[in-house]
Amino acid sequence: MHILVCGGAGYVGSHVAYVLAERGHEVTVLDNLSTGHRQAVRWGRLIEADLLKPETLEAGFDRPVDAVMHFCARSLVGESVGQPYDYYDNNVVGSLNLLRAMHRHGVERLVFSSTAAVFGQPISGRIRENHPKSPINPYGASKLMVERVLADAARAYALRSVSLRYFNAAGAAAQAGIGESHFPETHLIPNVLRSALGIGAPLKVFGDDYPTPDGTCIRDYVHVLDLADAHALALDFMDCNVGAHRFNLGNGDGFSVLQTIQTARDITGLRIPFAFAPRRDGDPAELVAASDKARSGLQWSPRFDRLDQIIASAWDWHRAAAY
Ligand code: UFG
Repeated sequence: MHILVCGGAGYVGSHVAYVLAERGHEVTVLDNLSTGHRQAVRWGRLIEADLLKPETLEAGFDRPVDAVMHFCARSLVGESVGQPYDYYDNNVVGSLNLLRAMHRHGVERLVFSSTAAVFGQPISGRIRENHPKSPINPYGASKLMVERVLADAARAYALRSVSLRYFNAAGAAAQAGIGESHFPETHLIPNVLRSALGIGAPLKVFGDDYPTPDGTCIRDYVHVLDLADAHALALDFMDCNVGAHRFNLGNGDGFSVLQTIQTARDITGLRIPFAFAPRRDGDPAELVAASDKARSGLQWSPRFDRLDQIIASAWDWHRAAAY
């Protein structure tokens, strides 16, 4: 199949492009390179285009497209609270522009990059797909709006779609020369490893008074290559399933910030200095996925289901980071 990977120069998008190419698909990457990296586009041509400039999208459809994968988004929770117009513009208006372009060109399959942030503050332990959706920041709200648009588009235009709600994406495909690189970096595992390498600002642990066993936030880390596999499986799923579908993607195990730092210490053998800091705005105490639906519906089976494996692969990348 020929897959248009929108946002394929970014962290998750570049790993998906790699896995799609490994599975024999033809990949075209469309990206405005605002946060992505030209060096991460290695499995297909790059078209520089911007979802907020709809006329630039036409170049992505210059040859028949079988399915679109959509990763273009602003994705920082804290930033979204301060810049809601930018977030709704990029994430909602941009998605509508892409959907319109797909409609014009008769493309009827989409895999959408969604997030655990659609749930807001969890009211139960492991989060299933039908858990109430009450986003507590514009980032989560913008992604939930697009999920809603996709349900309407299924009815109106017979668009087939799969929304994949990632929990905490982590890890890298260092062997393929790609990994996680944001500027500024806000995510825990890259910041922990940078601290081990003595790079960047000193590590802060945001909050030590959460209602968790050690007082720090608990997250469900899932390897970016396992996320990528789920995207490839979603293509097969859409062969036999019409409508708009949603799946939660996580390993189902929660690790606190302190446990994560300890695991990184074991893997690197290095000191990881940190200091406690006040809670970060918009951080729920605990986010852990129930991914049974993805396991049975998509036949998804994560290959990296231990935190130490995930951190080891991120460490391979950070030690040799190419961009
Ligand atoms: N943290 C630190 N220090 C840091 C970075 C993070 O203590 O330098 C803590 C955070 O406060 C949080 C945990 O580590 O408790 C994980 O933080 P990340 O920034 O790595 O990830 P988030 O849980 O904030 O973000 C993830 C996804 C988002 C999604 C969000 C939902 O990356 O896309 O979960 O809350 F929106």
